[in-house]
Amino acid sequence: MKKILIINGPNINLLGLREPEIYGARSYADLLAFIGEAAAEAGVEAHCFQSNSEGAIVDEIQQAYGRFDGIVINPAAYTHTSVAIPDALKAVGVPAVEVHLSDISKREAYRQVSYTSEACVATVAGKGFEGYREALETLLAERNER
Ligand code: DQA
Repeated sequence: MKKILIINGPNINLLGLREPEIYGARSYADLLAFIGEAAAEAGVEAHCFQSNSEGAIVDEIQQAYGRFDGIVINPAAYTHTSVAIPDALKAVGVPAVEVHLSDISKREAYRQVSYTSEACVATVAGKGFEGYREALETLLAERNER
């Protein structure tokens, strides 16, 4: 069975509380349950990780080398600031898909730049929780093409 690492960055643990008009009313626990169901349907083993720290996210990506077949990552605010995160993704070479709950292409100018995307095979944005399912499916299709 394929093993997929799902990484969520800063403040994703506050889903439901944080700006519900943008990110929705459902909690991070709800997101974990959603991903669990989507992974079961897709027939993959998903391991979820969330951190508010850039270094912890880099460590997690490094540890994915040789252990995971793919990564789904919502780097949250680090999308727009971190060079270390895409560097880590490129270093380990594990195929990754970037996800955003909101449509970052239609928000503030500073959110329209993603440093992460150049290290990912695809980006899914503006589809809420469903984006994580789409990212999983994209990753599986990508793996099958190889
Ligand atoms: C986000 C978009 C980012 O700009 C923001 O900083 C987040 C969440 C999203 O999922 O829509 O924290 O990645």
